[in-house]
Amino acid sequence: MRILVTGGAGFIGSHVAEDYIEAGHEVSIIDNMSSGKEENVNPKARLYKMDIRSPELDLVFAKEKPEVLNHHAAQIDVRKSVDDPIFDANVNIVGMLGLLQASVKHGVEKVIFASSGGAIYGEPQLLPAGEQTALDPLAPYGVAKVAGEFYLSCYHALHGLNYTALRYGNIYGPRQDPHGEAGVIAIFCESMLRDREVKIFGTGEQLRDYVYVGDVVAANVLALDKGDGARVNIGTGKGTSVNELFTILKEVLGYGKDAVNYPPRHGELEKTYLDDALVFDVLGWKAQVGIERGLEQTAAFFRDR
Ligand SMILES: NC(=O)c1ccc[n+]([C@@H]2O[C@H](COP(=O)([O-])OP(=O)(O)OC[C@H]3O[C@@H](n4cnc5c(N)ncnc54)[C@H](O)[C@@H]3O)[C@@H](O)[C@H]2O)c1
Repeated sequence: MRILVTGGAGFIGSHVAEDYIEAGHEVSIIDNMSSGKEENVNPKARLYKMDIRSPELDLVFAKEKPEVLNHHAAQIDVRKSVDDPIFDANVNIVGMLGLLQASVKHGVEKVIFASSGGAIYGEPQLLPAGEQTALDPLAPYGVAKVAGEFYLSCYHALHGLNYTALRYGNIYGPRQDPHGEAGVIAIFCESMLRDREVKIFGTGEQLRDYVYVGDVVAANVLALDKGDGARVNIGTGKGTSVNELFTILKEVLGYGKDAVNYPPRHGELEKTYLDDALVFDVLGWKAQVGIERGLEQTAAFFRDR
């Protein structure tokens, strides 16, 4: 298949692009390199260093004629979306719309969209949060992800464009960005390796659903052939606390100090993790990598780079 991966020089997108290439697909990438890195890009991919909002977008679609659009490019920083919601909406809503318009014009069959199960449900009443949980985003970043999902179902109804929305938990692993939704892991690894103070905001008992990036890649591969019209959680069904992350990484990296607690961050969710039953029915996907093994592999990446 011909697949266009936006954000393919970034953390998750680069792993997805790599697996698609290994499976024999023809991959092109659009990335403005704002956080993406050239070293993340597989040399077999054709890289267009440009913004998804660029007027040249049409030329890339005309040249590459993608059958599938895998959309990972985004403004990913939840706090930045609060400080500058207009920028967030420009990239995450208007940028996505430009991609959908080009997809319809150039005959793309399916869009796979990196949504966020951590940001669209707000503070869920029932845990683990299933896909039927009310959409109640508490930051502009989550509002844009909800809008993206609704544009997809709307474009399906209007133009027959297929889609799968993958509602990611907190994704971690090699190449991860400290500003992303699982940024705490990258930040802890960096601080421990430099023997600096590790800060925990609040009690450290906040729960999140941490998913290893290799598992996320597998979901993106399955979504090429399955899950049309579905919006599914990509989670493990379990919450892990910041204190647990600290304890595991401390052991793995041989860090000798205790964490230092700071006042809680304003507006931070207390507990959210995702039900993983529907995605098993729809894609046949289940997370395979447990938190200990995933953190060992992530810590090894930060140690060896
Ligand atoms: N990491 C997580 O825990 C997580 C959770 C939920 C959803 N997501 C979503 O997954 C996707 C990938 O996130 P990531 O963690 O790999 O982040 P990342 O920052 O590593 O990847 C995003 C990529 O998009 C590129 N980009 C940003 N703005 C662009 C623009 N205007 N035009 C072209 N390229 C642009 C960046 O250079 C980067 O390479 C995002 O859509 C994010 O919202 C991530």
